[in-house]
Amino acid sequence: MERYLEKKIQVRINGEIYVKRVPSRRTLLDFLREDLGLTGTKEGCGSGDCGACTVLLDGKPVNSCLALAIEVDGHDIITVEGLSKENVLDPLQQAFIDEGAVQCGFCSPGMLMTAKGLLDENPHPTEQEIRKAIAGNLCRCTGYVRIIQAIKKVADQKD
Ligand code: FES
Ligand code: FES
Repeated sequence: MERYLEKKIQVRINGEIYVKRVPSRRTLLDFLREDLGLTGTKEGCGSGDCGACTVLLDGKPVNSCLALAIEVDGHDIITVEGLSKENVLDPLQQAFIDEGAVQCGFCSPGMLMTAKGLLDENPHPTEQEIRKAIAGNLCRCTGYVRIIQAIKKVADQKD
């Protein structure tokens, strides 16, 4: 019989500390969605190819389907639920709406978190740098042009 070990982890997610026991093979994606009910983060491929599951781990975009929950013990995670503050959308969320960068919306959480990671590190990216940053985030609806426009709009508004 296969044995699943568990480990207690403590992790800060969207500013809140969680202390939980998790099976050693539980992915960060399943931990967020199924254990914590943070279903804004989406599962597309489950194998690191689509970017729908992107969250920020210590400020850097990662595919949460490829990370184990036990690996984020002691770390800081931001999910799409953590973007808006007191019911005010993050400028990126607002720009995605204003620029028509959302159609079915399945890619949007991952796209937003990748864009957030990019702008936090590089507030004034070129279009080429934006394209490179979102290269791992697949969108089957928009053709990417409006997504790039939305990210550029927020970058242009920054000091
Ligand atoms: S669900 Fe994680 S990269 Fe596709
Ligand atoms: S808006 Fe549908 S996948 Fe991007």
